Amino acid sequence: MSAIKNGLFLSLEGVDGAGKSTHIPFIETHLQRLGIEVVVTREPGGTVLGETLRELLLHKDMDIRTETLLMFAARNEHIKQVIEPALVQGKWILCDRFSDASFAYQGGGRELGATAIETLEQWVHPDLQPDQTWLFDLPLEIATQRLQNSRVLDRFEQEQAAFFVRTQQFYHQRAQQDPHRFSLVDSSQPIHTIQQQLQQQLHHLVELWQSR
Ligand code: TYD
Repeated sequence: MSAIKNGLFLSLEGVDGAGKSTHIPFIETHLQRLGIEVVVTREPGGTVLGETLRELLLHKDMDIRTETLLMFAARNEHIKQVIEPALVQGKWILCDRFSDASFAYQGGGRELGATAIETLEQWVHPDLQPDQTWLFDLPLEIATQRLQNSRVLDRFEQEQAAFFVRTQQFYHQRAQQDPHRFSLVDSSQPIHTIQQQLQQQLHHLVELWQSR
C-alpha cells in the first residue's frame, strides 16, 4: 500500500453484462454498517470533466489511441480530485472499474497490447493500485444475453463476441499476475451467494484495516 493512503481502495471489474453494478449498492451499504466512510465512484467518470469524457468515450467513434489517452486523462482527473484526497482522509474508495479495464478493453479487446497501457499506468499512477479488485466472471454467452435484455447499447457493448473473448482473456491474465489483489466472483451464481462471499471478504478487509 502506498505511503499516502489511510483509506482502502476497492475496485470492481468484469466484461459488460457480468453484473458488477448490481453489487455496488450492497457493498456500499455493508461497509457503512461496519462504520466505514465510503466514496462510490466510477470510470470513465467520477469528476465533472471525467463524466464529459465518458459521454464521448461511450458514444463517439475515435481512434484506439485517442480512446486510450482519454481513458487515462479521465483517470488522472479522477485520481487527483477524488481518489487520492479521499484515501488521505481515511475514506474507502469503491470504484466501478479502474486501469485493469484499460488493460482488458483497450489492451485486449481493441488489441493495443499491454505495453502502451503499462506506460500510461506508470505515468499517471506509478504508486497507486487498488488494494482489492473483484473480477466478476461468467460465461460470455450469459453476459451477452444479459446485455441484449437491457437498454440501448454503448460503443463497447455493441462489440462483437471476439472482442469480449479477448477482453475476458486479458482480465484473466491480469488476475493471474496479481492473485493477492484480485478476487474472482463467479457471477453465474445466485445473487445471495455472491453477496455472502462479498460480505465475508468485507469483514476480513475491515478487520485487517482496523488492526493496522
Ligand atoms: P460500464 O462500467 O460497464 O458502465 P455501465 O454499466 O453504465 O455500462 O461502462 C463503461 C464502459 O467503458 C465499459 O464498456 C468498459 C469501458 N472502459 C474501457 O474500455 N476502458 C477503461 O479503462 C474503462 C475504465 C472502461
